[in-house]
Amino acid sequence: MPDSLLTNSKIVAAYREKTKKSSELAEKARETFPSGITHDSRHTDPYGIYVDHAKGSRKWDVDGNEYVDFFGGHGALILGHNHSGVIDAGHVQLDKGTHFGAGHPAEVEWGGLVKEMVPCAERVRFTSSGTEANLMAFRLARAFTGKPKLVRFICHFHGWQDHVAFGAKGGYSEGPVPGVLDGIIENVVLIEPGNEQLMRETLASRDDIAGVILEPTGASFGSIPVTRDFVAALRDATTEHGALLLFDEVVTGFRVSPGGAQAHYGITPDLTSLAKILSGGLPGGAVCGRADILELLDFEVADEKGFQKIGHQGTYNANPMSAIAGIAALKEIQAGGVCEKASENGAKIRKRVNEVFAEEDIPWAAYGDHSAWYVYTNPEGADIDPLTFDGYAGTFAQMSNSGGHPAAAKLRLAMLVNGVDITGKPGGTVMAAHTDEDIEKTAEAVRQSVRMIREEGDL
Ligand SMILES: Cc1ncc(COP(=O)(O)O)c(C=O)c1O
Repeated sequence: MPDSLLTNSKIVAAYREKTKKSSELAEKARETFPSGITHDSRHTDPYGIYVDHAKGSRKWDVDGNEYVDFFGGHGALILGHNHSGVIDAGHVQLDKGTHFGAGHPAEVEWGGLVKEMVPCAERVRFTSSGTEANLMAFRLARAFTGKPKLVRFICHFHGWQDHVAFGAKGGYSEGPVPGVLDGIIENVVLIEPGNEQLMRETLASRDDIAGVILEPTGASFGSIPVTRDFVAALRDATTEHGALLLFDEVVTGFRVSPGGAQAHYGITPDLTSLAKILSGGLPGGAVCGRADILELLDFEVADEKGFQKIGHQGTYNANPMSAIAGIAALKEIQAGGVCEKASENGAKIRKRVNEVFAEEDIPWAAYGDHSAWYVYTNPEGADIDPLTFDGYAGTFAQMSNSGGHPAAAKLRLAMLVNGVDITGKPGGTVMAAHTDEDIEKTAEAVRQSVRMIREEGDL
């Protein structure tokens, strides 16, 4: 946030007043962690809240403040915090042991659920995170096709490993990336999302592409949305040109529908990366997909067919605690109603927030699809109507800067002052656990927050 907005802000003063213990912890944390944080998206000016406990849709900070939560464990929670099914299963497993250094029954059940639920999942390999799942997906794609290059879409986020550590934010520029080998950068082709002609030309004009990866509903769970038509065209074009289609369903998996975005669209990729909801709020990830691709990990098939197997280790792959939490969450999602409820809540929040923007005469708009809501902060000052704004109709340039208004960071702090924790986008991920009361509280917090920002002359 520029100094001018921070200086003498009553919002910042109110936030500081309310979060004194968080401020103390933040100061202490700076002595240990770079910027005092353990995840870049928790970087908050002047500092973030420190949370003590959570339940359902709410969380409580160390100062005792209660918040409606729209982080949802970075999207890992759809059932809500401390969901009884997940917690009870976890307690049983804790008593049995947390790591056996061996296969265990829960991993078989967990993998079986992934196979049942995710259309492309003929075979599954667990990892410890979404970042790792994507890393394995890239390696599989290269080994399977014998081709080097990976096509990515600008702003689509796939974790923090070398192949994806650049171009995942707006303002992408070509050139060296600190700590990433030029050879890796040279083997990644980054193109604008949603541009069917460019995508088709890229695939048609070269024969060195192993695979194309995307977030299937658009960058950051649809904050820069792509349409089903674009994804369908990508499916066609990758098949036509012999490149694999990789869906990063780390966020959308078990959220957009029990079978993820691929089941919702009816479009089946060759490989899919999963994490977050997969393991019920505990660490975990998986790559799944076509059996003829995942057989590259198979000792017996490699021997039989005479190829060099892809190696894969990982101390916490299919960890029993993650497996048991994942089974509890996935079974509940598979039974039905959870994804629908979360999406319904998302639609309600977007509608109510837009009503507030219209009533308060704020030229911003809530948008998103499924269980997401984002605020288009209209940095260009366009003449928009929040009640009819359509994120799908926006250009890439527009939507990749949707949170670009200078007061967006102030909105985040004002919402915290008003008892709601939204992400920096600004916006958030909605859970099935959110209630109508949460939605009303959120809409009211938006009203109070924009009034506070307007009072400071920033809106
Ligand atoms: C779409 C997407 N892919 C991959 C990742 C990386 O997953 P992880 O944080 O488990 O490494 C994330 C994390 O937020 C994500 O949102």
